[in-house]
Amino acid sequence: MDHFLYRDGALCAEDVPLAEIAATVGSPFYVYSTATLLRHFQLFDEALDGTDHLICYAMKAASNQAILRTLAQAGAGMDVVSVGEYLRARAAGVPGVRIVFSGVGKTAEEIRVALVGGIRQFNVESEPEMEVINAIALELGKVAPITIRVNPDVDAKTHAKIATGKSENKFGIPIARASAVYAQAAALPGLEVVGIDVHIGSQLTDLAPFETAYRKVAELTERLRAEGHDIRRLDLGGGLGIPYTRSNEAPPLPMEYGALIKRTLGHLGCEIEIEPGRLIAGNAGLMVSKVIYVKSGEGRDFLILDAAMNDLIRPAMYDAHHDIVPVVEPEPGVEPQPYDIVGPVCESGDTFAKARMMPPLAAGDLVAFRSAGAYGAVMSSEYNSRPLIPEVLVHGDQFAVIRPRPSFDEMINRDTIPPWL
Ligand code: LLP
Repeated sequence: MDHFLYRDGALCAEDVPLAEIAATVGSPFYVYSTATLLRHFQLFDEALDGTDHLICYAMKAASNQAILRTLAQAGAGMDVVSVGEYLRARAAGVPGVRIVFSGVGKTAEEIRVALVGGIRQFNVESEPEMEVINAIALELGKVAPITIRVNPDVDAKTHAKIATGKSENKFGIPIARASAVYAQAAALPGLEVVGIDVHIGSQLTDLAPFETAYRKVAELTERLRAEGHDIRRLDLGGGLGIPYTRSNEAPPLPMEYGALIKRTLGHLGCEIEIEPGRLIAGNAGLMVSKVIYVKSGEGRDFLILDAAMNDLIRPAMYDAHHDIVPVVEPEPGVEPQPYDIVGPVCESGDTFAKARMMPPLAAGDLVAFRSAGAYGAVMSSEYNSRPLIPEVLVHGDQFAVIRPRPSFDEMINRDTIPPWL
């Protein structure tokens, strides 16, 4: 569910017409709906009702501080994967005790910053990392709370680039080695083992892989408890998929996911953490872009937009589908026609969609990419010296620019010329 609907023929974000935002900030831009962000957060909260839980929003999905603060004020914690994310979450007002630190390559400096600043737990991904955290904690006179991320060797049945729970992936420690690694952790005085962490991948559209993984976590919890570890917290990662097309996809709902968690793990009496990113932010954001030219090619028409792969890389990187809709609602009965929808960047990979059926469009028309709130703005770059596009947050009938479009000078003047030139 989202709050991007046509009203009187104009596509709106909540109560604000997108054309009005475009008139203020120019195009392209990202726009997020507060009501949708909060609704998605609440769906998870309700799904875990009756359990002791914390929803740690995976802020890699969309990390603008205005989004973080919106969610944090509703009760969210954060899942961070770099010190940059940690500092951004803190700047947005999230206390350290509500931040979990994931990631396969945390550096000593990152660990130090989080330990000094306060952290709920590190999700440890390897034995060498465990030793570094221990050493830094001892040096600081602290005890670092940790979980250990186990790799359950489960096929998440998602795109290969975003599956993480198979034994060939770089993530976690093999579940078969868990007893040994937990014993090693328990012997390190700078660490306090609080639980288990697992995350098997992203954009999962079936609950079965979660079920397999969570059953393995349940077994492991009992085994580790029998071995003397006080396993009291389970971090179950993120990964619940979203519909990217309006027509035929119906991924499981948070309520079904919550029921699965309770069914597989509820009897253990652990505190539950989850780390959803995409489901909270994905359908809470659009990217709006303008048609620059309509070009007739050999047997096809191209819509050349002012947004490009540097602004939204998902189609180029994962062959991802995003619904693209006109900002002015087509009149009933208008015959759609196929377009190849592309950006201005100088490579053929800069293609958003091929033979996409759209109502006839002309230069100057605005279009909106749906489901672009997660892994959209955060993965953008300045490739082709194109400044990062602005982000806007809507709240009812209000909107605010939450990241302005940089000027060309701001972008260019970050370069420095060495003295010999
Ligand atoms: N927790 C961990 C440890 C993760 O690595 C991720 C995502 C999440 C939580 C959140 O997963 P979500 O609920 O958003 O599925 N750029 C890709 C997605 C990469 C996901 C990486 N890890 C895309 O655009 O599809």
